[in-house]
Amino acid sequence: MKANPGGIVSPSDVIGRDRLIAQLWAILKQQGLVLVAERRMGKTAIIRKMEAEPIAGWRAIYLDVEGVSRAAEFIERLALAIRTHLSASNKATQWLRDFWSALGGFEVASILKLPEARQPHWKTVLERLLGELARNADQRLVLIWDEFPWMLQKIARAEGASAVVDLLDVLRGLRQTHANPRLVFTGSIGLHHVVAGLQDQDYVHSPLNDLRTIEVPPLAPPDAVQLADALLRGEGLAAAADVAERIAEQVEGVPYYIHHVVATLADLGRPVTMRTVDAVVARSLTEPQDSWNLEHYRNRLGPYYGESASLARTLLDVLAETEDLDLDALHEQLRIKARPDNDRVRRIVEGDREELRKLIKLMQRDHYLEQDERGAYRFRFALIRRWWRIDLGLG
Ligand SMILES: Nc1ncnc2c1ncn2[C@@H]1O[C@H](COP(=O)(O)OP(=O)(O)O)[C@@H](O)[C@H]1O
Ligand SMILES: [Mg+2]
Repeated sequence: MKANPGGIVSPSDVIGRDRLIAQLWAILKQQGLVLVAERRMGKTAIIRKMEAEPIAGWRAIYLDVEGVSRAAEFIERLALAIRTHLSASNKATQWLRDFWSALGGFEVASILKLPEARQPHWKTVLERLLGELARNADQRLVLIWDEFPWMLQKIARAEGASAVVDLLDVLRGLRQTHANPRLVFTGSIGLHHVVAGLQDQDYVHSPLNDLRTIEVPPLAPPDAVQLADALLRGEGLAAAADVAERIAEQVEGVPYYIHHVVATLADLGRPVTMRTVDAVVARSLTEPQDSWNLEHYRNRLGPYYGESASLARTLLDVLAETEDLDLDALHEQLRIKARPDNDRVRRIVEGDREELRKLIKLMQRDHYLEQDERGAYRFRFALIRRWWRIDLGLG
């Protein structure tokens, strides 16, 4: 297997996800899913493999909705994905053709378009499209929408929060009336950010509480080693057995970084040793062009936490310096180190423990932090802590 960081991996090259995928199919027999993880953890690799290798009696239809910013466009893309799937499996597509033309929809250059007149409303079209699909499907279907929260944010920006509320309501209504198709949402931005934005606008529903949320973890150590080993071989890099182990361990089993390290080793071309692995990882954490996109962890604090962003940053600074602090110890450190730049931060620092707890919960959901059995907090990924320490000049 060739190193291909960030590229599309063929389903047979997706390593270490068989058990998770089996678990996902088992859940889908009961309910829909939200698949969450830090970016680059391998969500897309997993769902593409599910599409390519469905279990008996089921079919998954994958749609990347990252680029979509309007509800009507989403429906057009969805209809096209459904049609492509139906024709690939030789099912009659007549119902879809009839349905689409009855709406006044048309086709240009193989793209399905809704009528410009916005009649009927896209909500009606979506309800009917999925209803028709449920009626006409002769097998269990899973509709997988990759980067769904990102699309919702774009729709909110382009068409207002009410369009997102409508969309989520239609989809929830559909889940309540039809067990087929099942829905799977994936994305690197937590849906909680999108829903919190809606709740700021008095949206009181929990539009997702009937879905199971599953987190995609890094690869388990033996699988991470297997991936590193397969990539080293694929690149023709002779190395001692412990080199693959070293790569896996240095990047905590994150598949994207494993690909990246091996790709860089292949560029260097010299004999690969533990030392060259360490040097490549150390270099990746400090290189100015930031090919691992680590700056992202810092840059998104603003959009994620708004007024609390500066406090979140200080909190990470504190935990970069001293790991495993419980809430009280953390609060104490913040009292010493935080430079409040607004009232909210001042309130938290001066005593509002509950607000601090909420912020920390959010930071856990966003994969910055984790809590151990004794209640102490630490970085979720040691690699990110290491990068944060370098950035603070702590070495
Ligand atoms: N299970 C896996 N086996 C091999 N390589 C993987 C695996 N999962 C992810 N990758 C690698 O990591 C990269 C990022 O994975 P991707 O599925 O795009 O992550 P996400 O969708 O979570 O952002 C892929 O391009 C591929 O190089
Ligand atoms: Mg992805």
